[in-house]
Amino acid sequence: MWKGATVIFGKSGTGKSFLTRLLLSGVIRKEAAVNLMFDMHSEYGWEAMKEGKQVSTVKGLRQLFPGQVMMYTLDPESTKRRGVRDAQELYLSYDQIEIEDLKLVASELGLSEAAMDNANILYNEYGKSWIVRLLNMTNEDIKMFCEAKQGHQGSISSLQRKLMRFDTLKYIRSTCPHNYIDQLIQDLAAGKNVIIEFGSQSNMLSYMLATNMITRRIHASYVKKADHFLQTKNPLDKPRQLVITIEEAHRFLDSSVVHQTIFGTIAREMRKYFVTLLVVDQRPSGIDNEVMSQIGTRVTCLLNDEKDIEAIFTGVSGGANLKSVLAKLDSKQQALILGHAVPMPVVVRTRPYDAQFYREIGCTDWEEMPNEEVYAAAKVAKADLGF
Ligand SMILES: Nc1ncnc2c1ncn2[C@@H]1O[C@H](COP(=O)(O)OP(=O)(O)OP(=O)(O)O)[C@@H](O)[C@H]1O
Ligand SMILES: [Mg+2]
Repeated sequence: MWKGATVIFGKSGTGKSFLTRLLLSGVIRKEAAVNLMFDMHSEYGWEAMKEGKQVSTVKGLRQLFPGQVMMYTLDPESTKRRGVRDAQELYLSYDQIEIEDLKLVASELGLSEAAMDNANILYNEYGKSWIVRLLNMTNEDIKMFCEAKQGHQGSISSLQRKLMRFDTLKYIRSTCPHNYIDQLIQDLAAGKNVIIEFGSQSNMLSYMLATNMITRRIHASYVKKADHFLQTKNPLDKPRQLVITIEEAHRFLDSSVVHQTIFGTIAREMRKYFVTLLVVDQRPSGIDNEVMSQIGTRVTCLLNDEKDIEAIFTGVSGGANLKSVLAKLDSKQQALILGHAVPMPVVVRTRPYDAQFYREIGCTDWEEMPNEEVYAAAKVAKADLGF
């Protein structure tokens, strides 16, 4: 039974990240799936700031579930500085960047179509080593290449200049003898939840590039595993259900890129390969309509922008009435839930993410507890994953 992706929408400061932490706690506690979280602002794994009259911090998921959550980091110095001693370093290399990854960040990098065409020519010629080769080319080399291969000299030079920005990303290496992504895949297969911290590497180019590269490979491995399972039908071969969480999701699911990138593929193919998305975003109107129509459950905090509100209710019956419900939500810690996880749209107050929650999430009979919100959170996760 297909249930589709889950989304958490709301304008800045409405409590999306706090709610996401609560939901993931439920999924981890229930072992309903393994999670892979692309933690753009380093706020899910370890100590996050809590806004308020006094500045305080809240615990991250690794602190709540030390045995079940692992942290990887793309910026080891920053992660260490924050007091996390056992995060796994993660490096990516130029030879792991494919044309598809570039397409996703083409507008961040300011790459024209001509530059992308020439990237293809270089890739066809040099294969995986094309970026390293390009970065090392002199003007003369480029000229000779263009004469022989019908590339466009101006476009290749401009591509070279723009790709130099990758040099500023701390986690990119020319080559990497160790395959960190394979290691991450093994951890997920062993049932570990993985949080990838970006530290200072959280600009949009950096976030989108790493997130796409890693997800593409994980997805490929899941497709293989799922096909194998279909053949053998052996329950031992069944891949673990995986939930991938991304922030700023509209950047990955925008109409102009959604047909070319792995996140569009995952959103469209639904749960076929045991991978689903948990999408956290401030701008639902930026997400492709087709993807919106396939979302399983929408959890929506307060939104002000008319276009965003419109987008949430596309294709939802009773949308007009629900709009007024949405408009009356508190500015924090309240959400409207629509979709597969609930029999009818409901408004919930998100429970406080606090010391009491830490205690209760660790206690074994938490499902019996009279706290509707935790229960609702677990139900959203459960229903969406088809458990
Ligand atoms: N469940 C909760 N328990 C305790 N505090 C909360 C909760 N939800 C929200 N808050 C308060 O609201 C503040 C903002 O929440 P949060 O960081 O989750 O917003 P956000 O929607 O993710 O914002 P942004 O889009 O800017 O990332 C928190 O710092 C915290 O003070
Ligand atoms: Mg947030």
